[in-house]
Amino acid sequence: MSTTASQPVKTIAEFPAAAAEFQEAIRKIVRSHAVNELYGARVFDEPAISFAPTPYAKWLTCRVAMEEYGHHVRFRELGEQIGIPAAELVPGEKKPLSIFAFPLATWEEFCVIKLLADLAEILQVEDLLHCAFHPLRNLARMTMPEERFHAQFGRDFCLELCRTPGGRAKVQDAIDRYFPMLPAFFGASGSRNNATYRRLGIKQRRNEEMRADFLERARALVEDELKLKLPEIAGTA
Ligand SMILES: [Fe+2]
Ligand SMILES: [Fe+2]
Repeated sequence: MSTTASQPVKTIAEFPAAAAEFQEAIRKIVRSHAVNELYGARVFDEPAISFAPTPYAKWLTCRVAMEEYGHHVRFRELGEQIGIPAAELVPGEKKPLSIFAFPLATWEEFCVIKLLADLAEILQVEDLLHCAFHPLRNLARMTMPEERFHAQFGRDFCLELCRTPGGRAKVQDAIDRYFPMLPAFFGASGSRNNATYRRLGIKQRRNEEMRADFLERARALVEDELKLKLPEIAGTA
C-alpha cells in the first residue's frame, strides 16, 4: 500500500481512516514519548528535588519535575485517544533506554542531564513540529517551550557550578560519564523506521543528521560556554 506523505491528518477523529502504516508509525512515536517522559521523571527529575542545594533550586527542580510528569500525562492522553492500550503507555517489562540507566546520585549529575539530555529531547521534539498528524504536531509545539526551559535550567546551573574549581571538576566528571550514553538516543543510522516516518511526513530528519546536529550543539555548549571538554566518542559519525 502506498501512502502520500503530503496528506495531513488534522484531527483525532480522522485518525482511524488514515493508512494503517501511518497509524502504526504514530502510535509507535506517541508510545515511546509517553513511556520515556514518565521514566525520566521517575529516575531523574523527582529524585533530583532532594539533591537541589537551595530552596530556589528545589523550587525550579519541582517545576521541571512537574513539567516532565505533565509531558507524560499529555502523551498518554493522546495515546489513549488513538487506541494505544493503557499498559503500553507506562514503563513495563521492556528494558528502558540506556540514558535512563544512569544512577543519579548528585546535583551536578542532574544539572548535566538537563543540559545534555534535554537538548537531545529538544531535537526530537523539533523534528515533530511539522508532523503530518496535527494533534501530535500541536503537542510538540506545546511541549517545546518547557523542554527549552529544562535545557536552560541545566545550562544556568552548570555555569554557576563551574565558578569554583571543585564545581568545575564535578561537572566535567558528570559530562564524562553521562555524555557517552547520548548518541545512541537518536537511534540507528540508516534506520528503516526513520525512513518510514520521513516518507509519511511524520519526521523531517534522518537519525544520523539529528545525531550530528546534537553533537555540534552539545560541543558548543560544553566547550564554548562552559569551557569544559566534551569527551570523544567513537563510532558516532
Ligand atoms: Fe519532557
Ligand atoms: Fe525535559
